[in-house]
Amino acid sequence: MEILIYPAKILRNKSKKVKNISDSQLKDLASELKRLMVEKDGLGLAAPQIGHSIRLIAINTKKGDQIFFNPKIYWRSFFRKESAEEGCLSLPDIFGTVKRHKIVWVSYFDLQGKKRKLKAAGLLARVFQHEIDHLNGKLFIDKMTKLTKGQDLLDKLLKNAK
Ligand code: CO
Repeated sequence: MEILIYPAKILRNKSKKVKNISDSQLKDLASELKRLMVEKDGLGLAAPQIGHSIRLIAINTKKGDQIFFNPKIYWRSFFRKESAEEGCLSLPDIFGTVKRHKIVWVSYFDLQGKKRKLKAAGLLARVFQHEIDHLNGKLFIDKMTKLTKGQDLLDKLLKNAK
């Protein structure tokens, strides 16, 4: 499987909720997503980036590379925000500054189908926000306050997107 590059249309879709986590094909897809994230040295990767409009993401956490089904931010530090540089495997060599909530609480289902929640702060909170945005058809270029690298590349991609 390959990582899709913007302006691949699927990157703009709203992804559907995962219904049957015990499904073996779904488990295979999840491990492929994780494998690709590791191979490409990403902090996170979302299913739409490998061609599937489903609510599934992989994130490189302190506890290792993890899979999250139906991740949902149910609390955010509304006033505490932080700006930092972001990139995306679907927008190679393009970087920009994005303002994100500093702390988020996320609910999700794990590989066993068990509902869990976690608190993420700083970079991890940023990665969750970035990946969950992918599930809603949003990219960091929609939110960035400043482009820091790759203006020529982005101009070319945006021209292709029209
Ligand atoms: Co991305």
